[in-house]
Amino acid sequence: MNTSFETYQRKDEWLTPPYILKALGKFDLDPCAPIKRPWKIAKKHYTKKDDGLSKVWKGRVWCNPPYGNQTAKWLSKCSLHKNAIVLIFARTETKMFFKYIWEQADAILFIKGRIKFYHNNGVQGDSAGAPSVLVAFGKRNVRALYESKIKGILIRLK
Ligand SMILES: C[S@@+](CC[C@H](N)C(=O)[O-])C[C@H]1O[C@@H](n2cnc3c(N)ncnc32)[C@H](O)[C@@H]1O
Repeated sequence: MNTSFETYQRKDEWLTPPYILKALGKFDLDPCAPIKRPWKIAKKHYTKKDDGLSKVWKGRVWCNPPYGNQTAKWLSKCSLHKNAIVLIFARTETKMFFKYIWEQADAILFIKGRIKFYHNNGVQGDSAGAPSVLVAFGKRNVRALYESKIKGILIRLK
């Protein structure tokens, strides 16, 4: 069963499947982490309580950002930080996708099939209502996408 795109947009707590994180190597920071999380995502986490957007980011960042009209701000910060992998829906036609990904990212991996994200109690949900991409900012993160063996099509942008 698919959970519709709109349903996904209405809720923030959709967690990245651990197999994706494991395939991409260790991250220093998840600046948009759930307050209640069933597993560690990075060495350091910022949650809603901290407002991860207002913080200084250091090191290699994992960013599966809040959905809806918040997403662009997170993409902007990742593009300036230049050391991040972002997981978002493949809405390749949107203004934010053009401004921060097509024009600034180093590579995109279009993931084969649809991701089943997790709830913050650790239970896996149904397939997402849209396909997803992993976006690399920085050479090291391009290499991580290449080496991840996550199924899909990788496009080098720079
Ligand atoms: C799509 S979930 C991804 C969670 C996690 N990053 C992962 O990859 O599994 C987005 C998360 O961002 C958090 N969030 C929303 N606004 C935030 C903010 N201003 N600062 C930090 N985290 C925030 C939500 O609570 C939610 O857990």
